[in-house]
Amino acid sequence: MHDTPSDPVSEASRRRTFAVISHPDAGKSTLTEALALHARVIHEAGAVHGKAGRRGTVSDWMDLEKARGISITSAALQFSYKGAVVNLLDTPGHADFSEDTYRVLSAVDAAVMLVDAARGLEPQTLKLFEVCRHRGIPIITVINKWDRPGRDGLELLDEISTRIGLKPTPLTWPVGIAGDFRGVLDRRTGAFIRFTRTAGGATVAPEEHLAPEVAAAQEGDAWTTAVEESELLSADDGDHDQEQFLAGRTTPVLFASAVLNFGVGQLLDVLLDIAPAPAPRPTVDGGARPVDAPFSALVFKVQAGMDSAHRDRVAFARVCSGVFERGMVVTHAGTRRPFATKYAQAVFGRERSTLDTAFPGDVVGLVNAQALRVGDTLYVDQPVVFPPIPSFAPEHFAVVRAKDTGRYKQFRRGIEQLEQEGVVQVLRSDLRGEQAPVLAAVGPMQFEVASHRMENEFSSAVLLEPLPYSMARRTRAEDVAVLDAVRGVEVLRRGDGALLALFPDRWRLSSVQREHPGLLLEPLVASA
Ligand code: G4P
Repeated sequence: MHDTPSDPVSEASRRRTFAVISHPDAGKSTLTEALALHARVIHEAGAVHGKAGRRGTVSDWMDLEKARGISITSAALQFSYKGAVVNLLDTPGHADFSEDTYRVLSAVDAAVMLVDAARGLEPQTLKLFEVCRHRGIPIITVINKWDRPGRDGLELLDEISTRIGLKPTPLTWPVGIAGDFRGVLDRRTGAFIRFTRTAGGATVAPEEHLAPEVAAAQEGDAWTTAVEESELLSADDGDHDQEQFLAGRTTPVLFASAVLNFGVGQLLDVLLDIAPAPAPRPTVDGGARPVDAPFSALVFKVQAGMDSAHRDRVAFARVCSGVFERGMVVTHAGTRRPFATKYAQAVFGRERSTLDTAFPGDVVGLVNAQALRVGDTLYVDQPVVFPPIPSFAPEHFAVVRAKDTGRYKQFRRGIEQLEQEGVVQVLRSDLRGEQAPVLAAVGPMQFEVASHRMENEFSSAVLLEPLPYSMARRTRAEDVAVLDAVRGVEVLRRGDGALLALFPDRWRLSSVQREHPGLLLEPLVASA
């Protein structure tokens, strides 16, 4: 038997649970692998997608995923670093990203915003940033790919402050322009950290800290410019302030080259230094669950069909308080039913290992969790309910029908299952009927996943007919008659009872608002 350290407070205080938010190709997978390289990996999740010649951990739980060569699933990578335990939760990264990506952010305490030095802020980063802002998640910015030509450092900072309203407070400042990466000026110590190339970034790059005089003598103008720019930043209030960072008003910035492994150790050090440890979690009754309260956890992802041989269903829960021990019987807050955790696992995707103990900030995979849904709370002893995970504004809509109408029972069961898992939102109306509900998604890939699973898991191939809507607004029952009479607009009911009015575009929405100023048309931003 294992000894269970009984102090969740000290275990929580040495944990850092975060996710990387970025646009595809910014280097998230590369950074994840580099982070793992810097640390002793405890548990390795399957979602780090393999690159030729490097460790391959493709999470190929679905054929679709294999075919696309991307990772649709979310998983977590846990490692120890300098006495701390770091949990890196994967945010599936594809242009057609889905609600899964957003949900992961309800399970983290901090986010790393990874920005390509040549591209600056890109659409998916901006969307994910909005979710972080809404949830008050502090953000550390990493400007990646400084080893190749890109934009000017100050210009990138300017983009961050003007486009997302976060004040950048660089902790390091590059010596040498993008593409001529000599190293960074550590703004807290004034030292020069030299950039050392290792073959293909395959090993941890040694960090050489040199005194400013040495840097001045060796790097000349590049160093002088870096010092001048850094002074400019200080004069403009651009120094790190912990309180402002935790309040979500500033973002510390680091410059890195993930592929060459430079700046990665610095990022880990910064995470340990300034990122918040798991803290008391707000509850629905307006209170907060302290980390040393009895065990509680929040289910932030449910995934079925991860292993086609077993057709199982895994619920991923983030521990919010107390100590999790495998085998303990927890209560499912929604039903008040007991749930046995004999099959708790730490590893997702293909590779799994049994997990015995977990602390606040850790992720537990619960196998055969038929009853668990995204947003559910689990607890022992002291009942608690965490606020539901918000659903997000869908932007893609399609009517779904069974290809073979004789298989309607399977069709209905499958749609219900996908709806419960939150794979897609399902909208209905009397007009369209039960046989042809409307699927709503944040990204079109959710439709592909839904359609693939309907055919393979529920034996009901489906036909999808895209609808020409791109915006949804919440409305109320008394406004439905007016909206139904407007051409090109349709009102549907979501599973949670919300009435959604769908519009082809923002112009149509504005014109309806102008013509009928009394209508309630509320944006569907994250609401919890
Ligand atoms: P993603 O997960 O965010 O989508 O990005 P990923 O890590 O797959 O990286 C996208 C591409 O950017 C990869 O190149 C990767 O090698 C490259 N990259 C990542 N970080 C850096 C960096 O710091 N500097 C430079 N110069 N490149 C970087 P690829 O050609 O698509 O793949 P590969 O053949 O190199 O593996």
